[in-house]
Amino acid sequence: MSTPVIAFFNNKGSVGKTSLVYHLSWMYADRGLRVLTADLDPQGNLTSAFLDDDRLDTLFTRERRPETIFGCLQPLKRGIGDVALPKLEQINDRLALIVGDMALSTFEDQLSEAWPKCMDRDERAFRVTSAFWRILQDGAQDHQADMVLIDLGPNLGAINRAALIACNFVVIPLGPDLFSLQGLRNLGPALRTWRGEWQERMQKNPAADLSLPPGSIQPVGYLVLRHSIRLDRPVAAFNRWIARIPEVYQECVLDHPGEAASSVETDPNCITRLKDYRSLMPLAQEARKPMFFLKPADGALGAHGNAVKSAYSDFLTVARTIAERTHIKTP
Ligand SMILES: Nc1ncnc2c1ncn2[C@@H]1O[C@H](COP(=O)(O)OP(=O)(O)OP(=O)(O)O)[C@@H](O)[C@H]1O
Ligand SMILES: [Mg+2]
Repeated sequence: MSTPVIAFFNNKGSVGKTSLVYHLSWMYADRGLRVLTADLDPQGNLTSAFLDDDRLDTLFTRERRPETIFGCLQPLKRGIGDVALPKLEQINDRLALIVGDMALSTFEDQLSEAWPKCMDRDERAFRVTSAFWRILQDGAQDHQADMVLIDLGPNLGAINRAALIACNFVVIPLGPDLFSLQGLRNLGPALRTWRGEWQERMQKNPAADLSLPPGSIQPVGYLVLRHSIRLDRPVAAFNRWIARIPEVYQECVLDHPGEAASSVETDPNCITRLKDYRSLMPLAQEARKPMFFLKPADGALGAHGNAVKSAYSDFLTVARTIAERTHIKTP
């Protein structure tokens, strides 16, 4: 039995993917689930949200970086073996992290080369292409995880293709802007192409003992994050883009052109509209905590106290909706 893997992905940058994965990981763990969270973005922002500089310095200066995602890939990458078991960074009893690494980007070329070679029944190509899936599942088993959440960088490159075929589900965070809509128009067809190409390749696997991802990448829905709204622009400027999301999502991501919901409020594909938490977010980053765990001692005083409570209830709602849609026990 494999553990469900959920990616948070949009090829548009800075929409709030990493912040969402970080907060949901804490939320699910707080509600009793065992969570493995994996940083598959070479930028490493999820990792630096969890770990302080001293810890990162220790992890990154160890020879061959055994505790990072890059360390897991090293034997395979160097052609001297297969993926190594991930060494998980234990954040608390229920929450564990697969540490990200900037050097992950050096794996991109091998992933690009492996993709067409799978069509030639090349075993190494299958080992390379399925590496993320196998690392995530090994880590999930080790941690006895109920779910795996993964954070990805904002592009449609070979790392994200391999990472996404390792996912059962994908959640799409969006900003209320033209570029997010454009991102959806590229993302939907890319997911379909990758899913189809992987189904074709899977038939050609020469190694019966090799565990391969199912490559379902089922879209769970989208969230509209409003923090990127420019306050100097009139409200109508971003409402215009928000209004188009249901139709573009239905047509480009679900591949069902036709009648879409008339607004994100009535669209069943919309998980939520998440507000701009403004100064609560930098306070949380400074305290290295999710916003909903901030205390007065962290600077969450006065009105911030209410904002902390409302952040807990907002993220719990998101967590529950995603759990329902991915058939994970409701937190
Ligand atoms: N709901 C929110 N309220 C306030 N600020 C937010 C919110 N979500 C994200 N931010 C801020 O917006 C910025 C971008 O967020 P984040 O890094 O999560 O985006 P991303 O989509 O992961 O970016 P990238 O594409 O570079 O990986 C960060 O400074 C973050 O603190
Ligand atoms: Mg990010």
